[in-house]
Amino acid sequence: MTRITVTVDGIAYEEEVEPRLLLVHLLRDRLGLTGTPIGCDTGNCGACTVMLDGRSAKSCSVLAVQADESDILTVEGLSGDGGGWHPMQRAFHEEHALQCGYCTPGMIMAAIDLLKDDPDPSEESVRHGLEGNLCRCTGYTNIVRAVRRGAREMNGQEQASAEGAR
Ligand code: FES
Ligand code: FES
Repeated sequence: MTRITVTVDGIAYEEEVEPRLLLVHLLRDRLGLTGTPIGCDTGNCGACTVMLDGRSAKSCSVLAVQADESDILTVEGLSGDGGGWHPMQRAFHEEHALQCGYCTPGMIMAAIDLLKDDPDPSEESVRHGLEGNLCRCTGYTNIVRAVRRGAREMNGQEQASAEGAR
């Protein structure tokens, strides 16, 4: 067993883990954060995507010991202290970008990561940026629309807070 410390959704944890334990199992089975689903367990579907030190990562492809001393954000921590939905969550809801919802947490985390490099992505950029995330239900039209809507909302919010700070 190895002792690791991680911060998940703003809470610090210290855990004894087996070296083979996957990060997604640490999140779900040990910390009870079942908002991060497992779709394939082989790094193909992206359902398990979380932020690891600020960038998206497939948590079934990372060992818990590799995440030692990391800062992890899951879909459950997106809304922050004030509660309410993150703009990207709201955009998925408003654009009807899900049916079963299984892929949605990973899609949202991957989308937020994409916007760090491309804050106003074209349709092509969204499709390219999310190609590691699979949806078995919707086709991708509404997902792409939602990501672009979420981007516009996030940009608007940043602009509003910048103007408020003046
Ligand atoms: S469960 Fe991790 S990529 Fe599918
Ligand atoms: S909404 Fe069902 S897998 Fe994407």
